[in-house]
Amino acid sequence: MSNQAISKIEKLKSEHNAIILAHNYQLPEVQDIADLLGDSLDLAKKAQKTDADNIIFCGVRFMAESAKILNPSKNVIIPDMSAVCPMAAMVDAKGLTKLKKENPDAKVVAYINTTADIKAISDICCTSANGAEIVKSISSEKIIFVPDQNLGAYIKRSFPDKEMIIWPGFCSTHHNIRKEDILKLKKQHPDSEILVHPECRPEIIDIADYAFSTNGMVNHAKNSDVNEFIIGTEKDLCYRLKKENPDKSFYPIRYAICPNMKKITLEKVLNSLETLEPKVSLSEDVIKKAKIPLKKMMDIGRGG
Ligand code: 13P
Ligand code: SF4
Repeated sequence: MSNQAISKIEKLKSEHNAIILAHNYQLPEVQDIADLLGDSLDLAKKAQKTDADNIIFCGVRFMAESAKILNPSKNVIIPDMSAVCPMAAMVDAKGLTKLKKENPDAKVVAYINTTADIKAISDICCTSANGAEIVKSISSEKIIFVPDQNLGAYIKRSFPDKEMIIWPGFCSTHHNIRKEDILKLKKQHPDSEILVHPECRPEIIDIADYAFSTNGMVNHAKNSDVNEFIIGTEKDLCYRLKKENPDKSFYPIRYAICPNMKKITLEKVLNSLETLEPKVSLSEDVIKKAKIPLKKMMDIGRGG
């Protein structure tokens, strides 16, 4: 896209008092125009605090919905409404309501990768940055965790005595990362550290040096004395990692791509700034109910 179009984006941003929030998996050119680039927790915090009238959310829909729930007086605009997280769609309100009825003594922890309807019937949310912190804050010995089986299993490692009923959802981008591909990279780069996202399967967590949220990986890479990293998550996190650490090397899993994150393009961002559409719209009732578990998380879960 031309520099002229990028100048147009900048001009429209100030005309409309707009802010561009972008997730770490966005296309490199979208990352470059963001006012804030971050993980789910970081972006939710920023959306909650911003003075901007218009939030252009470059990510998937549950992230834009969370911004709307936390700051309902703002326009939250997602440049492509069809950018959804397939894992968030794996848990349905009917099924979760049934599970809650069967387990009345359990508290429901909803990964932020859920629809607003699911948050509205959950007790507390978490992200990949604060899952263990959130579960620790719950006095109940029984927890229903939705929808990611891998993050659920990863959190459960820290709480062997808690009963966790884990929904069998998964993110294909992470679930399909193969152990042999990580080990092959490790063989090629023996001095590297293996950083993976907790949405990866347990056998991948087992061979990793660390499991982190995407911002956790950014912070670790910056502060570590190590110079080479194998990155077990969506490949475009490596664009940010390299940009912020030009002297270090990052080895991505080349097929780990989230197609929905890639639906947001610079053209669509420009179009959204011109039209202030499409806006995220949720009923007042859903906002009121979904805000409770999200706010609870924001008050507790600082993230790591
Ligand atoms: P983070 O919150 O770690 O950025 O993860 C979001 C996500 O969708 C992972 O696939
Ligand atoms: Fe959803 Fe996976 Fe894409 Fe994250 S990477 S938004 S969990 S599909």
